[in-house]
Amino acid sequence: MNKIIVSVVLTIVLVVGINKITDKIYSVKTPEKSSYSVASLTDNSSVSNIESNMDNSEAGNIMALFASTSAGDGEKIFKKCAACHSIAQGGSNKIGPALWNVLGRQVGSISDYKYSKSLMAYGKKWSIEEMDGFLTKPKDWIKGTKMSFAGLKKPKERAALILYMNQNTNNPLPIK
Ligand code: HEC
Repeated sequence: MNKIIVSVVLTIVLVVGINKITDKIYSVKTPEKSSYSVASLTDNSSVSNIESNMDNSEAGNIMALFASTSAGDGEKIFKKCAACHSIAQGGSNKIGPALWNVLGRQVGSISDYKYSKSLMAYGKKWSIEEMDGFLTKPKDWIKGTKMSFAGLKKPKERAALILYMNQNTNNPLPIK
């Protein structure tokens, strides 16, 4: 009789003990899962950081964009500029100066074109970074310019145009 009681009590103790152990295992697992979801949240936010970085016009980013676009795309976008600019070799000045060879040359340096004072006084060369900044919003980049063009908000469009300009020149700038 006694042996039976003892074995019943032992069984109960065992079952309760196993339950407690499973509880512990379970409660250990739960935080593990939630830390996974925290990690994936962090991942998402870093992705959106990268996306918002791509919206600004820093040089590093325009360099990265060159891989995703082409001079052919730039040729299409140049239609927005063609009313005022020629870009062909030997092209003449229109409302704006001729743009053959423009990358790398001194800002405001076509001798038979009458620039605004601000462009004449600017004193820098048309680097990729300068061109990217200017095309984003000409009137903000060189205050007082007489180029009436709102600007290209999309970094990819500016990158494509720069590739196209870099094709219409005797001295292409090194890209990367
Ligand atoms: C409404 C006419 C107009 C449009 C459209 C226009 N431009 Fe211009 N652009 C001008 C004028 C005018 C100037 C001279 C600005 C000055 O002297 O301040 C100029 C100057 C420039 C210069 C400086 C050239 C140099 O010799 O230093 C560049 C580069 C340029 N434009 C590129 C572009 C590009 C690229 C586009 C198209 C996205 C464009 N422009 C659209 C009128 C225009």
